Amino acid sequence: MPMAEGIDVSKQDGVQIVRINRPQKKNALTSAMYRELVSAFDEGDADPSVAAHVVLGLKGVFCAGNDIGDFLSFAQGGGLPLETILAFLGKLPAIEKPVIAGVDGIAVGVGVTMLMHFDLVYAAPESFFSTPFLDLGLVPEAASSLLVPRAVGHQRAFEMLVLGEPFTADRAYACGLVNAIEPSDRLEEKVLETARKLARKPPEALKLARRLLRGDTADILARTKQEAELFRQRLASPEAAEAFQAFFEKRPPDFSKVRAGS
Ligand code: COA
Repeated sequence: MPMAEGIDVSKQDGVQIVRINRPQKKNALTSAMYRELVSAFDEGDADPSVAAHVVLGLKGVFCAGNDIGDFLSFAQGGGLPLETILAFLGKLPAIEKPVIAGVDGIAVGVGVTMLMHFDLVYAAPESFFSTPFLDLGLVPEAASSLLVPRAVGHQRAFEMLVLGEPFTADRAYACGLVNAIEPSDRLEEKVLETARKLARKPPEALKLARRLLRGDTADILARTKQEAELFRQRLASPEAAEAFQAFFEKRPPDFSKVRAGS
C-alpha cells in the first residue's frame, strides 16, 4: 500500500518490500521518510508472516542521502527534528530480520551507509556509491566510521569516507560491499528471488544464524551515538552552511570564505 512521504511498503510471499520513492529529489530522505522507514522495519519485524525485508529505490536512483534542504534549515537555526534521523540510525543495527537491498543507480551518504547494516546487497552495473560527508563539512554517520574500515580496510575506507571518492559498482563489488552485480532489468527480481529463498528457510534457525553472524552490536550503537554528537555540531558549523548553500546554488563550495570569516 503506498504510504505518505515517499516510502512505499508492500508484502508478498513472506517478504516486506520497502521502496524509497521520491523521484523529483533523487530519493533524498526527509524526516517524515525516516519515520516511515523506522515504522516499516518495526512492523515487518513484528509481523510473523514476514521473513525478510527488501529495500529498493527506483531505476537510476537508490537514495541521494539526507535532504540537504533539511540540513540547511538546521544550519540556519531552523527546526530539523534531528531525533528522527537518529532514531533511524539507531534502528539500523537493531533490525531483527534479514535485509536485502537492490541498488540501481545513485547511492549517496546515508544511501550508502545504511547498506553496511544490511545482509545482502545487489547492484546494477551503472550504480555509484558516494559518501561526501567531508565535502559537506560533516563527519561519517550510521557507524560507517567503524563498519566501512572493518569491511574494506582503512585505506579504502579513508578514500571513500574522507577523500569522498565515489565507488563504481565494480569497485564496490571488488571491495565486498556488494554481493553481485545484476543487470538493471534483472535486479529487482534477483533481490526478491533471494528474499523468497530466505523466507523458505527454517525461521528460528535463520534468526539464530543471523544473530551469530552479526555478533554483539553494542560497539556499533556506541559509535552511532559518538558520530551523532559530532554530526550535530558539524551541521551547525559555517563549513556545512557554506556546503549546503553551494549545493542549492549549483556552485562549488568556497571554504576560504569560511576561514576568512572565522
Ligand atoms: N537533498 C535535497 N535535494 C536533493 C538532494 C538531496 N540530498 N539530491 C538531489 N536533490 C535535488 C536537487 O536539488 C534537484 O532539485 P531541483 O530539480 O529542484 O533543482 C533534484 O534533486 C535533481 O538533482 P540534480 O542534482 O539535478 O540531479 P543529478 O542527476 O545531476 O545529480 C546527485 C544527482 C544525487 C549526484 C546530486 O543531486 C547530488 O550530489 N545530491 C546531493 C547528494 C548529497 O550530498 N547527499 C547528502 C549526503 S550526506
